Amino acid sequence: MIPVTKPFLPPRADYEKYLDGIWERNWLTNNGPLVNELELRLKEYLGLDHLLFVSNGTIALQMAIKGLGLKGEIITTPFSYVATTTSIIWEGCQPVFVDILPDRLTINPDLIEEAITSKTSAILATHVYGIPCEVEKIQQIADKHGLKVIYDGAHAFGVKFKGRSIFEYGDISTCSFHATKLFHTIEGGGVFTKDPELLKRMAYLRNFGHDGFEKFNGIGINGKNSEFHSAMGLAVLPYLEKIVQTKASQVQFYKGLLKGLKVTYPKTENIENYNHSYFPILFSSEGNLKRSKQILEMNQIGSRRYFYPGLNGLDYTSGDCSVSDDVSKRILCLPLYHTLTQEEQRMIARLLLRVQNNPDL
Ligand SMILES: Cc1ncc(COP(=O)(O)O)c(C=O)c1O
Repeated sequence: MIPVTKPFLPPRADYEKYLDGIWERNWLTNNGPLVNELELRLKEYLGLDHLLFVSNGTIALQMAIKGLGLKGEIITTPFSYVATTTSIIWEGCQPVFVDILPDRLTINPDLIEEAITSKTSAILATHVYGIPCEVEKIQQIADKHGLKVIYDGAHAFGVKFKGRSIFEYGDISTCSFHATKLFHTIEGGGVFTKDPELLKRMAYLRNFGHDGFEKFNGIGINGKNSEFHSAMGLAVLPYLEKIVQTKASQVQFYKGLLKGLKVTYPKTENIENYNHSYFPILFSSEGNLKRSKQILEMNQIGSRRYFYPGLNGLDYTSGDCSVSDDVSKRILCLPLYHTLTQEEQRMIARLLLRVQNNPDL
């Protein structure tokens, strides 16, 4: 079986070395020393002044919305993972869907203004597959209309724009450190902001609103993460550069093998520190995608329709999202992970080409 993705596990000894300290201290969770150490290492790695390690990427989004005190309508796109939209709804706001750019698959900034109403409070856009949104245009629109900006950077760990971490853009960025993500802590996530006051507010939110044992600062939630999850992050981080390099060469190899296949790719050229988190391919029709996916499945090869279906199917306010509707029907992520071999890639490519060249298959 070739899965669509495989979590990276560091050598056991690297993880176990952190366990001794946990047993010695008997400190398992609640802002422990390994949480602090991971936060410090991540700040160094990403070149950021502020971040919080939280329980997952979904709670990170909810804390961002709550931390900014957003109400009313939030402009977003239907082409993202479902958590982007459901966080808006869980926080009592209304998602308003705007279409995506056909080449980058991120929000189309030229369509944002026509979706703004007197109820709009923010734009929440995803750096899909680690492709940065058009952050400068989006900020100009937000400034003009007095809106906040949140970026869902679940896929964008390590990516840069104009020499700075992509997480520095917008009022808040979030990330997922789920086991299937490039950098992971099994379950986990991050919130990032340049504003220390906002970070402080979110630190209260992360811990039930506790300001010490006998006082509360606002209404919080449990967004904390544990020493064990931090230990995994600390053990994974040193291997990250190597994983990105491996994935970059696997993508190049795939593209060579798939030259004869009538597919296109989202535009990833000229992205600084692009992280190659996924390998999405766009078929010419949904029918071709379905036949290809089926043949892969028959040969024990995983692939994923990521993202399908479009989130505008969740029945909230939506303008014309025909680009997203079309792309989500035709896009398929192929297996991509650190131990995928060239032989396996050749087999995948051979099968896809065979489907294309034999319409009756
Ligand atoms: C774009 C996007 N946003 C949010 C999330 C949610 O992250 P988590 O699974 O850590 O809650 C994911 C993860 O799958 C994602 O891909």
